[in-house]
Amino acid sequence: MEQAVLSKKIIDGKLVAKEVREDLQKEVLAATEKYGRKPGLAVVLIGDNPASHTYVKNKVTACKNVGIESFLLQYEKDVDEQTVIDIVHKLNADPLVDGILIQLPLPKHLPTQEILSLIDSDKDVDGLTAINLGRLARGDEGLFPCTPMGIMRLLEHYKVPVKGKNVVVLGRSHLVGKPVALMLLAKDATVTICHSKTAHLPEVCRQADVLVAACGQPEMVKGDWVKDGAVVIDVGTTRVENADGTSSLKGDVEFDKASAKASLITPVPGGVGPMTIALLLVNTFKSFTMRMQAAKQSKS
Ligand SMILES: NC(=O)c1ccc[n+]([C@@H]2O[C@H](COP(=O)([O-])OP(=O)(O)OC[C@H]3O[C@@H](n4cnc5c(N)ncnc54)[C@H](OP(=O)(O)O)[C@@H]3O)[C@@H](O)[C@H]2O)c1
Repeated sequence: MEQAVLSKKIIDGKLVAKEVREDLQKEVLAATEKYGRKPGLAVVLIGDNPASHTYVKNKVTACKNVGIESFLLQYEKDVDEQTVIDIVHKLNADPLVDGILIQLPLPKHLPTQEILSLIDSDKDVDGLTAINLGRLARGDEGLFPCTPMGIMRLLEHYKVPVKGKNVVVLGRSHLVGKPVALMLLAKDATVTICHSKTAHLPEVCRQADVLVAACGQPEMVKGDWVKDGAVVIDVGTTRVENADGTSSLKGDVEFDKASAKASLITPVPGGVGPMTIALLLVNTFKSFTMRMQAAKQSKS
């Protein structure tokens, strides 16, 4: 395919994320002046997982660049459960903390769901508490997971219509598949959610006007699973070893073949990934403004 034709089809997540951050930076500046303090994000990092350290470093830098204060709390991998519980309670009560993020995965001895559920739902900037998932399911206001929010922003930016369209979501995790399906449903798409037990997956995918692949299976979605003219959102990021000993990041979609069929497609990397951190910043700012407005109302 000619380069010019292909580049028109590629969804540029880096560019859209940059726009989101630039708009946010202005809003953060104005709100900081208005309320007399910066929004604050607490990031809890446990253990020595190199990928987690990189993600956290990127999040802290991203906060700084838009004017959000970050508080990094680091603990050894053998930290006991009670200490982590106490940290979450302390952050819930801290008036300078608007968002709490616990970097996953946690070491195996810590119960992830139990710990996440302790986060105050109004500071839950990853949108992973049952209360926020419930709010999303009901169509209420809340804080929702960043990657699905990023996907919705990309679709909006590229003016992809979803109302009345067949959307197929591959994956049903709380982090990506379920929340993005609920967000698309709220926009009047006809949503099919697939998973590892779905029968006739290629045929189901071929019905999709919009195909969201979030299953973590590198290049599982073949070019001929994509309907002509479909929009393909590839959420997958799996690090795979190359024959020459190097490694690279692979999406869930066979990009070259799928891009020949799709009208729009996200690359990996550079598609959905950059949007996730941008939306974490948006969520932190949202939590800050909601809390500031509530504090103002309770005073008046
Ligand atoms: N770019 C980003 O910012 C970002 C953010 C989050 C996640 N990700 C990536 O997105 C991918 C999904 O993440 P996740 O957290 O949702 O993963 P997950 O919790 O492992 O969920 C994967 C989902 O895919 C389904 N699945 C697995 N193998 C399948 C198969 N062969 N056919 C059909 N469905 C299959 C699973 O089905 P069952 O439920 O039946 O097991 C499950 O629902 C990963 O590659 C992850 O790294 C990227």
